[in-house]
Amino acid sequence: MDTSTHAYIPGLQGIPATQSRISFLDGQEGLLTYRGYRIVDLARHSTFEETAWVLINGELPTPEQLACFDGELRANRRVKYNVRDIMKFLPIDGHPMEALQTCVASLGMFYPGQERMTAHGVSADSEFVEQMIIKILASMATLVAMWERIRRGDDPIPPRKDLTYAENFLYMMNEREPDPVEARIMDACLVLHAEHTINASTFSALVCGSTLAPPNLVVASAIGTLAGPLHGGANQRVLNMLDEIGSPAKVADWLDQRLANKQVVWGFGHREYKVKDPRADILQGLLEQLHEHRHGDVSPLYEVAKELERCAAERLAPKGVYPNVDFYSGLLYEALGIPRDQFTPIFAISRTAGWLAHWKEQLSNNRIFRPTQEYQGYAPRSYQPMSERQSSFPG
Ligand code: COA
Repeated sequence: MDTSTHAYIPGLQGIPATQSRISFLDGQEGLLTYRGYRIVDLARHSTFEETAWVLINGELPTPEQLACFDGELRANRRVKYNVRDIMKFLPIDGHPMEALQTCVASLGMFYPGQERMTAHGVSADSEFVEQMIIKILASMATLVAMWERIRRGDDPIPPRKDLTYAENFLYMMNEREPDPVEARIMDACLVLHAEHTINASTFSALVCGSTLAPPNLVVASAIGTLAGPLHGGANQRVLNMLDEIGSPAKVADWLDQRLANKQVVWGFGHREYKVKDPRADILQGLLEQLHEHRHGDVSPLYEVAKELERCAAERLAPKGVYPNVDFYSGLLYEALGIPRDQFTPIFAISRTAGWLAHWKEQLSNNRIFRPTQEYQGYAPRSYQPMSERQSSFPG
Protein backbone atom coordinates (compact mmCIF):
# COMPACT_ATOMS: atom_id res chain seq x y z
CA MET A 1 0.00 0.00 0.00
CA ASP A 2 1.30 3.44 -0.84
CA THR A 3 1.21 5.38 2.42
CA SER A 4 2.84 8.53 1.09
CA THR A 5 -0.55 10.02 0.23
CA HIS A 6 -1.77 9.78 3.86
CA ALA A 7 -1.34 13.03 5.72
CA TYR A 8 0.29 12.91 9.13
CA ILE A 9 -2.23 13.99 11.81
CA PRO A 10 -0.63 14.91 15.18
CA GLY A 11 -2.14 12.88 17.98
CA LEU A 12 -3.99 10.81 15.33
CA GLN A 13 -6.92 13.11 15.94
CA GLY A 14 -9.98 11.85 14.08
CA ILE A 15 -8.18 8.83 12.60
CA PRO A 16 -10.04 5.53 13.22
CA ALA A 17 -7.53 3.10 14.70
CA THR A 18 -9.92 0.21 15.28
CA GLN A 19 -13.49 -0.99 14.86
CA SER A 20 -15.30 -1.60 18.11
CA ARG A 21 -18.73 -2.45 19.50
CA ILE A 22 -17.88 -1.61 23.10
CA SER A 23 -18.67 2.06 23.68
CA PHE A 24 -19.77 5.16 21.84
CA LEU A 25 -19.50 8.84 22.54
CA ASP A 26 -20.91 11.89 20.89
CA GLY A 27 -18.84 14.85 22.00
CA GLN A 28 -21.27 17.42 20.66
CA GLU A 29 -24.29 15.88 22.39
CA GLY A 30 -22.48 14.84 25.56
CA LEU A 31 -23.57 11.24 25.05
CA LEU A 32 -21.63 8.20 26.29
CA THR A 33 -22.92 4.63 26.00
CA TYR A 34 -21.44 1.26 26.95
CA ARG A 35 -22.73 -1.44 24.58
CA GLY A 36 -25.57 0.94 23.73
CA TYR A 37 -26.61 1.61 27.34
CA ARG A 38 -26.44 5.22 28.48
CA ILE A 39 -23.83 5.85 31.13
CA VAL A 40 -26.37 7.68 33.24
CA ASP A 41 -28.58 4.55 33.37
CA LEU A 42 -25.66 2.29 34.21
CA ALA A 43 -24.43 4.65 36.95
CA ARG A 44 -27.92 4.78 38.41
CA HIS A 45 -29.02 1.15 38.13
CA SER A 46 -25.97 -1.10 37.67
CA THR A 47 -23.06 -2.07 39.87
CA PHE A 48 -19.45 -2.04 38.71
CA GLU A 49 -19.54 -5.82 38.49
CA GLU A 50 -22.56 -5.72 36.19
CA THR A 51 -21.03 -2.92 34.12
CA ALA A 52 -17.83 -4.91 33.69
CA TRP A 53 -19.89 -7.87 32.48
CA VAL A 54 -21.75 -5.66 30.00
CA LEU A 55 -18.48 -4.26 28.64
CA ILE A 56 -16.78 -7.63 28.37
CA ASN A 57 -19.72 -9.70 27.13
CA GLY A 58 -21.82 -7.20 25.24
CA GLU A 59 -25.24 -7.69 26.89
CA LEU A 60 -26.87 -7.07 30.25
CA PRO A 61 -26.34 -10.27 32.27
CA THR A 62 -29.12 -12.55 33.46
CA PRO A 63 -29.33 -12.86 37.28
CA GLU A 64 -27.50 -16.21 37.06
CA GLN A 65 -24.76 -14.85 34.82
CA LEU A 66 -24.18 -11.89 37.14
CA ALA A 67 -24.17 -14.08 40.26
CA CYS A 68 -21.61 -16.39 38.67
CA PHE A 69 -19.36 -13.54 37.45
CA ASP A 70 -19.59 -11.74 40.78
CA GLY A 71 -18.83 -14.98 42.63
CA GLU A 72 -15.73 -15.54 40.50
CA LEU A 73 -14.55 -11.99 41.14
CA ARG A 74 -15.03 -12.41 44.90
CA ALA A 75 -13.17 -15.73 44.86
CA ASN A 76 -10.20 -14.21 43.05
CA ARG A 77 -9.56 -11.13 45.18
CA ARG A 78 -6.52 -12.50 46.97
CA VAL A 79 -3.15 -12.13 45.29
CA LYS A 80 -0.08 -14.27 45.81
CA TYR A 81 1.92 -13.67 48.94
CA ASN A 82 5.04 -12.88 46.88
CA VAL A 83 3.34 -9.85 45.34
CA ARG A 84 3.25 -8.41 48.84
CA ASP A 85 7.00 -9.03 49.08
CA ILE A 86 7.56 -7.19 45.80
CA MET A 87 5.72 -4.22 47.27
CA LYS A 88 7.83 -4.28 50.42
CA PHE A 89 10.93 -3.56 48.34
CA LEU A 90 9.44 -0.51 46.60
CA PRO A 91 10.24 2.99 47.94
CA ILE A 92 7.30 4.16 50.08
CA ASP A 93 7.35 7.62 48.52
CA GLY A 94 7.11 6.21 44.99
CA HIS A 95 3.95 7.00 43.03
CA PRO A 96 1.21 4.37 43.50
CA MET A 97 0.74 4.15 39.72
CA GLU A 98 4.30 2.88 39.43
CA ALA A 99 3.75 0.38 42.25
CA LEU A 100 0.54 -0.75 40.57
CA GLN A 101 2.16 -1.14 37.18
CA THR A 102 5.04 -3.12 38.68
CA CYS A 103 2.73 -5.53 40.49
CA VAL A 104 0.29 -5.97 37.62
CA ALA A 105 3.25 -6.65 35.33
CA SER A 106 4.35 -9.42 37.72
CA LEU A 107 0.97 -11.21 37.77
CA GLY A 108 1.68 -13.24 34.64
CA MET A 109 4.57 -14.94 36.43
CA PHE A 110 2.22 -16.09 39.19
CA TYR A 111 -0.63 -17.04 36.86
CA PRO A 112 1.02 -18.46 33.75
CA GLY A 113 -0.79 -19.88 30.74
CA GLN A 114 0.06 -17.37 28.08
CA GLU A 115 1.36 -20.11 25.78
CA ARG A 116 -2.17 -21.57 25.63
CA MET A 117 -3.27 -18.38 23.98
CA THR A 118 -0.52 -18.19 21.41
CA ALA A 119 -0.64 -21.92 20.66
CA HIS A 120 -3.34 -21.27 18.05
CA GLY A 121 -1.78 -18.18 16.55
CA VAL A 122 -4.14 -15.24 16.81
CA SER A 123 -7.22 -17.20 17.86
CA ALA A 124 -7.31 -16.90 21.62
CA ASP A 125 -7.88 -19.69 24.08
CA SER A 126 -11.19 -18.49 25.42
CA GLU A 127 -10.83 -20.24 28.77
CA PHE A 128 -7.49 -18.52 29.41
CA VAL A 129 -8.92 -15.19 28.30
CA GLU A 130 -11.92 -15.47 30.65
CA GLN A 131 -9.79 -16.66 33.58
CA MET A 132 -7.30 -13.84 33.20
CA ILE A 133 -10.03 -11.23 32.87
CA ILE A 134 -11.44 -12.37 36.23
CA LYS A 135 -8.04 -12.67 37.90
CA ILE A 136 -6.77 -9.27 36.79
CA LEU A 137 -10.01 -7.40 37.41
CA ALA A 138 -10.43 -8.97 40.86
CA SER A 139 -6.79 -8.27 41.80
CA MET A 140 -6.73 -4.60 40.88
CA ALA A 141 -8.54 -3.29 43.96
CA THR A 142 -6.50 -5.59 46.21
CA LEU A 143 -3.22 -4.33 44.74
CA VAL A 144 -4.14 -0.66 45.12
CA ALA A 145 -5.28 -1.13 48.72
CA MET A 146 -2.29 -3.35 49.58
CA TRP A 147 0.14 -0.68 48.47
CA GLU A 148 -1.69 1.93 50.52
CA ARG A 149 -1.29 -0.18 53.65
CA ILE A 150 2.29 -1.26 52.97
CA ARG A 151 3.56 2.24 52.28
CA ARG A 152 2.06 3.34 55.61
CA GLY A 153 3.96 0.53 57.32
CA ASP A 154 0.82 -1.51 58.00
CA ASP A 155 -0.12 -5.06 57.06
CA PRO A 156 -2.50 -5.28 54.12
CA ILE A 157 -6.11 -5.98 55.03
CA PRO A 158 -7.23 -9.24 53.40
CA PRO A 159 -10.15 -8.88 51.01
CA ARG A 160 -13.60 -10.04 52.12
CA LYS A 161 -15.89 -12.17 50.00
CA ASP A 162 -19.09 -10.93 51.61
CA LEU A 163 -18.69 -7.37 50.30
CA THR A 164 -19.30 -5.94 46.84
CA TYR A 165 -16.33 -4.82 44.74
CA ALA A 166 -16.72 -1.17 45.81
CA GLU A 167 -17.44 -1.98 49.47
CA ASN A 168 -14.49 -4.33 49.68
CA PHE A 169 -12.14 -1.79 48.13
CA LEU A 170 -13.11 0.93 50.61
CA TYR A 171 -12.90 -1.61 53.43
CA MET A 172 -9.35 -2.64 52.44
CA MET A 173 -8.31 1.03 52.08
CA ASN A 174 -9.84 2.48 55.25
CA GLU A 175 -10.07 -0.56 57.54
CA ARG A 176 -13.77 0.01 58.07
CA GLU A 177 -16.87 -0.93 56.17
CA PRO A 178 -18.19 2.06 54.22
CA ASP A 179 -21.72 3.26 54.87
CA PRO A 180 -24.19 2.46 52.08
CA VAL A 181 -24.08 5.96 50.57
CA GLU A 182 -20.28 5.98 50.40
CA ALA A 183 -20.26 2.49 48.89
CA ARG A 184 -22.85 3.45 46.30
CA ILE A 185 -20.83 6.54 45.35
CA MET A 186 -17.64 4.53 45.00
CA ASP A 187 -19.51 2.00 42.90
CA ALA A 188 -20.92 4.71 40.61
CA CYS A 189 -17.42 6.21 40.21
CA LEU A 190 -16.13 2.81 39.10
CA VAL A 191 -18.99 2.51 36.60
CA LEU A 192 -18.31 5.98 35.19
CA HIS A 193 -14.59 5.41 34.64
CA ALA A 194 -14.83 1.87 33.27
CA GLU A 195 -14.66 2.65 29.57
CA HIS A 196 -14.27 5.53 27.18
CA THR A 197 -13.83 4.40 23.57
CA ILE A 198 -10.33 4.49 22.17
CA ASN A 199 -8.59 6.87 24.57
CA ALA A 200 -4.80 6.88 24.96
CA SER A 201 -4.55 4.07 27.53
CA THR A 202 -7.01 1.85 25.66
CA PHE A 203 -5.06 2.42 22.47
CA SER A 204 -1.93 1.45 24.34
CA ALA A 205 -3.68 -1.73 25.54
CA LEU A 206 -4.74 -2.54 21.98
CA VAL A 207 -1.26 -2.06 20.59
CA CYS A 208 0.23 -4.27 23.30
CA GLY A 209 -2.57 -6.85 22.97
CA SER A 210 -2.13 -7.00 19.21
CA THR A 211 1.33 -8.52 19.69
CA LEU A 212 -0.35 -11.33 21.71
CA ALA A 213 1.44 -10.16 24.84
CA PRO A 214 0.06 -11.57 28.12
CA PRO A 215 -3.02 -9.73 29.40
CA ASN A 216 -1.35 -8.56 32.61
CA LEU A 217 1.24 -6.79 30.44
CA VAL A 218 -1.55 -5.37 28.28
CA VAL A 219 -3.00 -3.83 31.44
CA ALA A 220 0.46 -2.75 32.67
CA SER A 221 1.02 -0.96 29.38
CA ALA A 222 -2.31 0.81 29.72
CA ILE A 223 -1.52 1.76 33.33
CA GLY A 224 1.68 3.45 32.19
CA THR A 225 -0.26 5.44 29.62
CA LEU A 226 -2.97 6.39 32.08
CA ALA A 227 -0.39 7.76 34.52
CA GLY A 228 0.29 10.95 32.57
CA PRO A 229 -1.37 14.21 33.65
CA LEU A 230 -2.94 14.72 30.24
CA HIS A 231 -4.91 11.51 30.77
CA GLY A 232 -5.69 9.88 34.13
CA GLY A 233 -3.23 11.89 36.19
CA ALA A 234 -5.31 15.06 35.98
CA ASN A 235 -7.67 14.40 38.91
CA GLN A 236 -4.87 14.55 41.46
CA ARG A 237 -3.75 17.87 40.00
CA VAL A 238 -7.28 19.25 40.15
CA LEU A 239 -7.30 19.11 43.93
CA ASN A 240 -3.80 20.57 44.23
CA MET A 241 -5.00 23.38 41.95
CA LEU A 242 -8.13 23.99 44.05
CA ASP A 243 -5.92 24.12 47.16
CA GLU A 244 -3.66 26.62 45.43
CA ILE A 245 -6.64 28.85 44.55
CA GLY A 246 -7.77 28.68 48.18
CA SER A 247 -11.21 30.32 48.14
CA PRO A 248 -14.09 31.13 45.77
CA ALA A 249 -13.26 34.85 45.95
CA LYS A 250 -9.82 34.24 44.43
CA VAL A 251 -10.99 32.13 41.50
CA ALA A 252 -11.53 34.81 38.85
CA ASP A 253 -8.11 36.46 39.28
CA TRP A 254 -6.36 33.11 39.51
CA LEU A 255 -8.01 31.94 36.32
CA ASP A 256 -7.19 35.10 34.38
CA GLN A 257 -3.57 34.81 35.44
CA ARG A 258 -3.47 31.14 34.58
CA LEU A 259 -4.88 31.64 31.11
CA ALA A 260 -2.64 34.67 30.49
CA ASN A 261 0.34 32.41 31.28
CA LYS A 262 -1.01 29.85 28.78
CA GLN A 263 -1.27 27.18 31.47
CA VAL A 264 -3.96 24.51 31.35
CA VAL A 265 -6.70 24.40 33.92
CA TRP A 266 -6.70 20.84 35.22
CA GLY A 267 -9.94 18.93 34.85
CA PHE A 268 -11.08 20.99 31.87
CA GLY A 269 -11.08 20.20 28.19
CA HIS A 270 -11.34 17.01 26.21
CA ARG A 271 -10.30 15.91 22.76
CA GLU A 272 -13.80 14.55 22.08
CA TYR A 273 -16.26 16.50 24.24
CA LYS A 274 -17.10 20.01 23.21
CA VAL A 275 -19.77 20.25 25.93
CA LYS A 276 -19.59 19.32 29.62
CA ASP A 277 -18.49 15.71 29.96
CA PRO A 278 -21.64 13.72 30.91
CA ARG A 279 -19.60 11.92 33.56
CA ALA A 280 -18.69 15.24 35.19
CA ASP A 281 -22.42 16.01 35.50
CA ILE A 282 -23.13 12.67 37.17
CA LEU A 283 -20.12 13.03 39.49
CA GLN A 284 -21.29 16.48 40.51
CA GLY A 285 -24.69 14.98 41.29
CA LEU A 286 -23.00 12.39 43.51
CA LEU A 287 -21.10 15.15 45.28
CA GLU A 288 -24.40 16.89 45.97
CA GLN A 289 -25.76 13.60 47.30
CA LEU A 290 -22.80 13.21 49.65
CA HIS A 291 -23.13 16.85 50.68
CA GLU A 292 -26.71 16.18 51.72
CA HIS A 293 -25.86 12.87 53.40
CA ARG A 294 -23.18 14.57 55.49
CA HIS A 295 -25.21 17.69 56.19
CA GLY A 296 -22.94 19.93 54.14
CA ASP A 297 -19.68 18.55 55.49
CA VAL A 298 -17.87 17.37 52.35
CA SER A 299 -15.06 19.72 51.37
CA PRO A 300 -14.56 23.49 51.32
CA LEU A 301 -12.89 22.95 47.96
CA TYR A 302 -16.26 22.07 46.43
CA GLU A 303 -17.26 25.75 46.60
CA VAL A 304 -13.98 26.69 44.91
CA ALA A 305 -14.64 24.10 42.20
CA LYS A 306 -18.15 25.38 41.52
CA GLU A 307 -16.89 28.95 41.24
CA LEU A 308 -14.11 27.80 38.92
CA GLU A 309 -16.63 26.07 36.68
CA ARG A 310 -18.72 29.26 36.63
CA CYS A 311 -15.77 31.54 35.77
CA ALA A 312 -14.36 29.10 33.24
CA ALA A 313 -17.70 28.99 31.45
CA GLU A 314 -17.20 32.66 30.50
CA ARG A 315 -13.59 32.23 29.40
CA LEU A 316 -13.20 28.67 28.08
CA ALA A 317 -16.63 27.56 26.90
CA PRO A 318 -16.28 29.51 23.61
CA LYS A 319 -13.39 27.10 22.81
CA GLY A 320 -15.54 24.11 23.69
CA VAL A 321 -13.60 23.58 26.92
CA TYR A 322 -15.74 22.37 29.86
CA PRO A 323 -15.21 20.25 32.99
CA ASN A 324 -14.15 16.70 32.20
CA VAL A 325 -14.46 13.52 34.27
CA ASP A 326 -11.47 14.46 36.41
CA PHE A 327 -12.86 17.73 37.64
CA TYR A 328 -15.21 16.40 40.33
CA SER A 329 -13.95 12.83 40.84
CA GLY A 330 -11.06 13.87 43.09
CA LEU A 331 -13.34 15.78 45.44
CA LEU A 332 -15.44 12.66 45.85
CA TYR A 333 -12.47 10.38 46.41
CA GLU A 334 -10.97 12.71 48.98
CA ALA A 335 -14.30 12.79 50.81
CA LEU A 336 -14.20 8.96 50.85
CA GLY A 337 -10.84 9.06 52.65
CA ILE A 338 -8.63 8.28 49.67
CA PRO A 339 -5.21 9.95 49.37
CA ARG A 340 -4.73 12.12 46.29
CA ASP A 341 -2.03 10.06 44.67
CA GLN A 342 -4.38 7.07 44.72
CA PHE A 343 -6.98 8.77 42.51
CA THR A 344 -5.39 7.61 39.27
CA PRO A 345 -4.90 4.03 40.53
CA ILE A 346 -8.65 3.97 41.25
CA PHE A 347 -9.24 5.14 37.69
CA ALA A 348 -7.04 2.21 36.62
CA ILE A 349 -9.04 -0.29 38.73
CA SER A 350 -12.18 0.75 36.95
CA ARG A 351 -10.75 1.18 33.45
CA THR A 352 -9.32 -2.34 33.62
CA ALA A 353 -12.84 -3.52 32.74
CA GLY A 354 -12.71 -1.48 29.53
CA TRP A 355 -9.10 -2.37 28.72
CA LEU A 356 -9.83 -6.08 29.05
CA ALA A 357 -13.06 -5.80 27.03
CA HIS A 358 -11.02 -4.20 24.23
CA TRP A 359 -8.29 -6.82 24.62
CA LYS A 360 -10.86 -9.58 24.16
CA GLU A 361 -12.40 -7.81 21.17
CA GLN A 362 -8.96 -7.26 19.63
CA LEU A 363 -8.08 -10.93 19.94
CA SER A 364 -11.25 -11.97 18.17
CA ASN A 365 -10.04 -10.26 15.00
CA ASN A 366 -6.38 -9.50 15.57
CA ARG A 367 -3.84 -7.85 13.37
CA ILE A 368 -0.65 -6.45 14.85
CA PHE A 369 -0.55 -2.64 14.93
CA ARG A 370 2.18 -1.32 12.70
CA PRO A 371 1.54 2.26 11.54
CA THR A 372 3.91 4.14 9.35
CA GLN A 373 5.75 7.44 9.82
CA GLU A 374 6.89 10.46 7.88
CA TYR A 375 10.66 10.21 8.00
CA GLN A 376 12.31 13.59 8.53
CA GLY A 377 15.90 12.54 9.14
CA TYR A 378 19.01 12.24 6.97
CA ALA A 379 19.21 10.41 3.67
CA PRO A 380 21.76 7.52 3.84
CA ARG A 381 25.22 9.01 4.46
CA SER A 382 28.75 7.76 4.88
CA TYR A 383 29.87 6.46 8.25
CA GLN A 384 32.89 8.19 9.84
CA PRO A 385 35.25 5.95 11.81
CA MET A 386 36.04 7.26 15.31
CA SER A 387 39.61 8.13 14.28
CA GLU A 388 38.31 10.64 11.73
CA ARG A 389 35.88 12.42 14.06
CA GLN A 390 36.90 15.70 15.66
CA SER A 391 37.06 15.78 19.44
CA SER A 392 34.24 17.81 21.02
CA PHE A 393 36.66 19.12 23.68
CA PRO A 394 38.70 22.15 22.68
CA GLY A 395 42.48 21.63 22.57
N1 COA B 1 -7.23 24.83 30.14
C1 COA B 1 -7.08 25.94 29.37
N2 COA B 1 -7.20 25.93 28.04
C2 COA B 1 -7.50 24.76 27.46
C3 COA B 1 -7.66 23.59 28.18
C4 COA B 1 -7.52 23.65 29.59
N3 COA B 1 -7.67 22.58 30.35
N4 COA B 1 -7.92 22.57 27.35
C5 COA B 1 -7.93 23.09 26.12
N5 COA B 1 -7.67 24.43 26.18
C6 COA B 1 -7.57 25.34 25.05
C7 COA B 1 -6.23 25.14 24.34
O1 COA B 1 -5.25 25.98 24.92
C8 COA B 1 -6.59 25.54 22.94
O2 COA B 1 -6.65 26.94 22.89
P1 COA B 1 -6.15 27.75 21.57
O3 COA B 1 -7.06 27.26 20.47
O4 COA B 1 -6.33 29.17 21.94
O5 COA B 1 -4.72 27.33 21.38
C9 COA B 1 -8.01 25.02 22.78
O6 COA B 1 -8.57 24.97 24.10
C10 COA B 1 -8.09 23.63 22.15
O7 COA B 1 -7.35 22.72 22.97
P2 COA B 1 -6.41 21.56 22.46
O8 COA B 1 -5.10 21.62 23.20
O9 COA B 1 -6.39 21.54 20.96
O10 COA B 1 -7.18 20.29 22.94
P3 COA B 1 -6.65 18.81 22.85
O11 COA B 1 -7.77 18.00 22.34
O12 COA B 1 -5.35 18.70 22.13
O13 COA B 1 -6.33 18.47 24.37
C11 COA B 1 -6.60 17.84 26.61
C12 COA B 1 -7.22 17.84 25.21
C13 COA B 1 -7.45 16.96 27.52
C14 COA B 1 -5.18 17.26 26.55
C15 COA B 1 -6.55 19.30 27.12
O14 COA B 1 -7.86 19.81 27.17
C16 COA B 1 -5.90 19.41 28.49
O15 COA B 1 -4.67 19.48 28.58
N6 COA B 1 -6.71 19.43 29.59
C17 COA B 1 -6.17 19.49 30.92
C18 COA B 1 -5.75 18.11 31.40
C19 COA B 1 -6.93 17.26 31.78
O16 COA B 1 -7.81 17.67 32.51
N7 COA B 1 -6.91 16.00 31.29
C20 COA B 1 -7.94 15.04 31.57
C21 COA B 1 -8.66 14.65 30.32
S1 COA B 1 -10.02 13.59 30.67
